[in-house]
Amino acid sequence: MFEELRKIGIVPVVSIDDAENALPLAAALWKGGLSCVEVTFRTAAAERSIALIRNAYPDMTILAGTVLNKDQADAAIKAGADVIVAPGLNTRMAEYCLERKYPYIPGVCTPSEIETAMEYGLRVLKFFPAKASGGLKMLEALHAPYGDIRFMPTGGIGIEDVREYLSKDYILCVGGSWIASTSLISEGRFDEIKRCAAEASASVRKIRQDSL
Ligand code: 3PG
Repeated sequence: MFEELRKIGIVPVVSIDDAENALPLAAALWKGGLSCVEVTFRTAAAERSIALIRNAYPDMTILAGTVLNKDQADAAIKAGADVIVAPGLNTRMAEYCLERKYPYIPGVCTPSEIETAMEYGLRVLKFFPAKASGGLKMLEALHAPYGDIRFMPTGGIGIEDVREYLSKDYILCVGGSWIASTSLISEGRFDEIKRCAAEASASVRKIRQDSL
């Protein structure tokens, strides 16, 4: 699953207010060339949205984002999410997810948090909030002592930052809400979402080609 995320390169982070929008949204991302989505538990429609997307797009990689407690983690996995993602590292949640073998990507932005995550055997971590924490410069500094950690930076990242981030081997993929913002979703602007997804996937392809 982590290799799949590396291949895709960009994870659209979405907040869906109405589960009715889940399938048109997934269709727009899929047609735009992005076969993954992080559905955040910032809205009550998250669980149902994940279930709908899982059913219609069995091959889509679905991350459940902003998972802050055990009930949300259980609901996300039951609905069909592949992985639990959180903005921070909560050791009780880490224990809960590991006991149940739920793949878990907690958020970190300090050396101490990275070391705590390593104690749990976690090697793929979200770097959040990426831009406000110092962006690539900070990540480069964090990578130096923790060479085998792979990061998924999110928070304040836009299409213009993708090339710089994905040029680093230790960055698995980047995430962001710019591809499908809450307003684009709630206004039903799925053509625009498809356009942003196509732009994002084309940019990943170009970066990969240029690095050959
Ligand atoms: C996340 O949860 O990953 C972030 O809120 C996404 O950040 P962005 O909205 O700044 O892209």
